[in-house]
Amino acid sequence: MKRTILLTFSLFWMTQLFGQVPTWSEDIAPMIYGNCSKCHHEGTAAPFSLMSYEDMVENSLTAYFAMEEGWMPPWPADPEYRHFIDEPDLTDEDIADILTWIENGHPFGDPELEPAAPTFETSGSLLDHVDFVAAIEPYTLQYNTDETRWFVIPTNFSETKYINGIEVIAGTDLVHHADISIDATSTSANYDAQDPLPGFNSQTGSPNYSFYMNAWQPGAGPARYPDNWGIPLYPGEDLVLEIHYGPGGAEMIDETIMNLQFVEDPVNVRPISVGWLLSSGNMTDGPLVMPPNQISTFHQEAVPFNSDKSLISICPHMHLIGASYKVWMVTPDNVSVPLVYVDNWDFHWQFYYTYPYIQKIPAGSTIYSEAVYDNTVTSTYQPNNPPITIQNGPNTTDEMMLTYFIYANYQEGDEDISMTPPTLVPEIASAADWRIFPNPTASDVTLIHQYNLQDQGSIEIFDMAGALVYTEKFSFVGRTFTVDVSDLPAGSYQLQWTTSKGSSARAFVKI
Ligand code: HEC
Repeated sequence: MKRTILLTFSLFWMTQLFGQVPTWSEDIAPMIYGNCSKCHHEGTAAPFSLMSYEDMVENSLTAYFAMEEGWMPPWPADPEYRHFIDEPDLTDEDIADILTWIENGHPFGDPELEPAAPTFETSGSLLDHVDFVAAIEPYTLQYNTDETRWFVIPTNFSETKYINGIEVIAGTDLVHHADISIDATSTSANYDAQDPLPGFNSQTGSPNYSFYMNAWQPGAGPARYPDNWGIPLYPGEDLVLEIHYGPGGAEMIDETIMNLQFVEDPVNVRPISVGWLLSSGNMTDGPLVMPPNQISTFHQEAVPFNSDKSLISICPHMHLIGASYKVWMVTPDNVSVPLVYVDNWDFHWQFYYTYPYIQKIPAGSTIYSEAVYDNTVTSTYQPNNPPITIQNGPNTTDEMMLTYFIYANYQEGDEDISMTPPTLVPEIASAADWRIFPNPTASDVTLIHQYNLQDQGSIEIFDMAGALVYTEKFSFVGRTFTVDVSDLPAGSYQLQWTTSKGSSARAFVKI
């Protein structure tokens, strides 16, 4: 009893004091759970969990700076230029709300409205089934500094397999990123043989990326391709996994695995290709040489295809002094189509950006790009002090300007194929995910969902005798929907809502 009174009192006090300040339970928790927790939970490379109010309060100072500077959540591409799957759904106003909330002493708000923390499969597979587990040989980390190593996994299949899904299950929380490729030559296997430990590092050599399949980082789900689309893996080819480990790992043993799913019916397969459709050979104002203490801008232009293609994802690539990289195409009908704009290039966060729907590249389209390099002292990851001339080359301290495209031959209707993973759409109708508030009510009732949703439906209210007393159609964007019930006589009612996913109902009392 005493606790309830105290709680009610403090809530009252907070509302008085903060007025419009966002609260954890109503505004902030859904944003953190929806945008941060997938990486910030137990057993990942993120330095702490963001799975509760307490976690957020404890880390609010660093979180403040990380968000104010735009480091977190990591998404170097500009969502206003082009949308991709898995992109954070935080607007500038949302970030401003989180910062205001921290500045105002992180008020909790009404505990009734607090959503449950999300749950994560920490080590389970998210693929429907796994056809091949590509495991690295257990590797004992050698250094306490950052470490990058290539692991070669032979396949020895007797027939061609088509990879339809790929996921990485990190063996330790020091795995900061993993790049997955196929080596059709024996280059990587030869280097592996020369190195006494499992895999090899840059002191021995550099692998041959015949097919650069995916860039994995903590928080990323599996890469999935449409049904019966697959990356060909020919007999005898090797898989190569590049792992970057964060510092502090000496003597720790890593057993990272990569799960692969294959196309079931190889007869009707749609083979997927990868290409550097833009590289140093396509520069119109090359060569790629950046003088010290200068910002330099370069352009590329290519007409790579004389037949239609279906673009799945795109991955611009630069090194340390990259600042931004924009790619677009102009079709033969002179339509300009934005493809990706990494306006905030960060060497540590390189993504394969996947379009929400397959992007058609009509035959004869010209693909253009513009990249900016900052070779001044203030460049975030400037490797030289003082800055020196940097040019195109394979080492991290050299630079690159290339864009990988993952695509297939176009077929009618490809533009309608959705790439959004099905599990990301929550079941809107599950009554357990909804709350109704306040109850009892004198004027209106608000339906609150756990997550931000987008859907349409209708609301019906029935009285105790089962008579329909109210109905309304609604478009649901966000977490809440409010119904004005001030005209209803006092009594008990059943509120029913129907969406594209089904219907649910809850009782409430009008006073
Ligand atoms: C894609 C995964 C991912 C997402 C999403 C993500 N983080 Fe992070 N975060 C990381 C990783 C990994 C690190 C450690 C980076 C490192 O050590 O270089 C990190 C580091 C941080 C740090 C420490 C920064 C520092 O200066 O030490 C803060 C604070 C942080 N994240 C807050 C957040 C918040 C708040 C969100 C959501 C708005 C978020 N992160 C979303 C993966 C993520």
